[in-house]
Amino acid sequence: MTTDEIRERYLKFFEGKGHVRIEPAPLVLENDPTTLFTSAGMQPLIPYLKGEPHPKGKRLVDSQLSLRLQDIEEVGDNRHTTYFEMLGNWSLGDYFKKEQLEWCLEFFTKELGLPKEKLWVSVFEGTKEVSKDEESASRWKELGIPEDRIFFYGVDKNWWSRSGEPDKMPAGEIGGPDSETFFDFGTPHNPKYGKECHPNCQCGRFLEIGNSVFIQYQKNKDGTLSELPQKNVDFGGGLERISAVVDGLSDVFLIDVYTPVIKVLEKETGIKYGSSDGNTTSFRIIADHLRAAVAIASEGVEPSNRGQGYILRRLLRKAIVRYSRLTDKEIKDFLKSNSLDTIVEALGGAKVKELFQAEWDKFERTFCTAYPAIMKLATRENNIVSGEEAFELFESHGLLPDVQKEVLETRFGKRIDWDKFKELFEKHQEQSRTASAGMFKGGLADTSEEVTKLHTATHLLHAALRKVLGEHVSQKGSNITAERLRFDFSHPQKLTEEEIKKVEDLVNEQIKEDLPVSFETMSLDEAIKKGALHFFGEKYGKEVKVYTIDPSTRPARSGLAPFSREVCGGPHVSHIGELGRVRIIKQEKVGAGIVRIYATTGK
Ligand code: SER
Repeated sequence: MTTDEIRERYLKFFEGKGHVRIEPAPLVLENDPTTLFTSAGMQPLIPYLKGEPHPKGKRLVDSQLSLRLQDIEEVGDNRHTTYFEMLGNWSLGDYFKKEQLEWCLEFFTKELGLPKEKLWVSVFEGTKEVSKDEESASRWKELGIPEDRIFFYGVDKNWWSRSGEPDKMPAGEIGGPDSETFFDFGTPHNPKYGKECHPNCQCGRFLEIGNSVFIQYQKNKDGTLSELPQKNVDFGGGLERISAVVDGLSDVFLIDVYTPVIKVLEKETGIKYGSSDGNTTSFRIIADHLRAAVAIASEGVEPSNRGQGYILRRLLRKAIVRYSRLTDKEIKDFLKSNSLDTIVEALGGAKVKELFQAEWDKFERTFCTAYPAIMKLATRENNIVSGEEAFELFESHGLLPDVQKEVLETRFGKRIDWDKFKELFEKHQEQSRTASAGMFKGGLADTSEEVTKLHTATHLLHAALRKVLGEHVSQKGSNITAERLRFDFSHPQKLTEEEIKKVEDLVNEQIKEDLPVSFETMSLDEAIKKGALHFFGEKYGKEVKVYTIDPSTRPARSGLAPFSREVCGGPHVSHIGELGRVRIIKQEKVGAGIVRIYATTGK
C-alpha cells in the first residue's frame, strides 16, 4: 500500500464513522504571532477543543503537515523526523474513549490489515490530581488486547499537551492523558536500553504508530488543572510510520516517500544506505532536513536570521555539513559540486533549488572565514569548548549552534557548554531583538492567558489605528510576550500624544462594552469579500479563520459595522472585557514608513 493510499483510507474510514474531512492548516503560520509552524494536528483546532462550536460539526478528520523542531536532535534513528504528516480524528465533546479505542484498533487491523497480536498499547497510570486510566485499559481488554500487552506509564509518556507534562503547561494550555498504540517488530531486545523490553523501550523493537489523546483538562494560573467544558478526543498517527509498519519496515526512511532521495544520495556518494551506523544516521538527517526545508521554502519562507527563516537556515546548514561528512569532503570543496540540486529535485523542490543554492553559497563564505577559528578549537587538546568560545563562533563568525555541534561535537568529539551558550545567547537576543524566541522553543505556540489577551489587543489596536490614522495603516510585524505586545505598522511618522490617546480611548471604549470575539471558517475569497484584514503575500490554506469583534451584537449598537475583522489563526479571548485596559507604553520608528508600538493590557 502506498503512503498516499493509506492517507486516503484513513480519511474515508473516519468519514464512514460520521466525521467531516477538513482542510489542514498551512505548515508555516506567518499570520500568527505566537507560533512559527503547525506542530500538531490539534494546534489549529484549539479554540474548538476549548468549547467553541466548529462550523463543520463535532467529528472531524484530516491529515496535517507538521514540523517539530524539538525532535531535531533525535533525527538519525529509525523513526524520528522533524517533518511529518499527521493523520488526525477529532471528537469535539462528542464520542470519547469507548469509540475512539475501538475505531483506532479497527482502522489498524481491519482497514490496514495489521495483525492484532502485534499491537501493544499504553495507558496513563495517574497522578495525585488525575486518576489512573482504568477505563481505557479495560476497553482495550474488551477489544481483545490482553493484559500483558497493556502498559501503564506516567506523565512523561502518557500525558499529552504541546508543552509536555502538566507541570510544564502554561496557564490556559490544554491537554490530557493519552493511550498510545505500538507495533511490535518482534526483534530481540538490546539490553543496552534496559533490562526488560517494553513498548516505550528505545531498542527499536516497538514503533509508536498512534496516540489517542483525551483532551479534557486546562491548566489554571495557580498551577492546578480544571476540566474543560467538554471531553475531547485528539488522535494523531504519524503517516510515515504507519506506512512503514504496513510494509513491515522498522525504518521509516525506507518508505516510498524517502526512496527517491535515498537513491539519489546513494548514487551521488557511492555509499549504500545502511552500510554503517554513522552513514545511515547521516542519510536520515539529510533526507529529513532537506524534506522539511523544501516544505518550508515551498510555503514562501526564505533563509534568514529570524523566525521561520532561521529554522530553514538551520536545517539547510545542518544537512550540508552532514552531507560533506558523508562524502568525506571539506565543506568548501563539497559545496562547489552542486550535487545537492539533484536531491532537492528528488524531494519535489525544483522551484526552491536556486534559493537553497544561494544559501549554501552564503554558508560556504561564512564557513571559509570561520574555518581557522573552528579548527583551532577542534584540534586542540582540551575537549571542552566553553560557552563563551561557542558564542564567539556564533556572534563573530556566524556559525550556527547546529553547525558547531556537527563539527565540534559529532566530528571531533568535543563537548560544548550549551548552558552557558544559551545564557549568553538569550542576553544577546534581548539586546539586539534580531533573533526569534522560536530558536530554542522549536516553534511551540504560547497560548497562555496573557499572550492570548495581548493577541486580541493587537487586533483592537490594528483596527483603532486604521480608524484614527487612516486605512494606509497595515500590520508589518507582531511579537507578543507574556508582558507586552509589539506591533509594527505602516505609517510615515510617530504618533502625536493626541493620536495615541484617541487610539487608546477607542480601544478601551470597546473593551468597556465587553464585546464578544467570534470567528467563522470560510474561504479566503469570502473573507476578503467580508472586508477581513489579511496579509498580502501570506500563504493561507484553502479555508481561513476570520475573527470578528462586533459591536452590533450589543442591542444598543446594532447595525454598526464590525469594529475589527481579521484573518487569523487565533486563539483569542471570548470577550474583550477580559483585557482590562489597553495602554500604549512606547513607540519608535523602525524603518522607512514603519512605526512600532508596545502596549500592555491590565488594570
Ligand atoms: N496531539 C497528539 C500529538 O500531536 C495526537 O494528535 O501527538
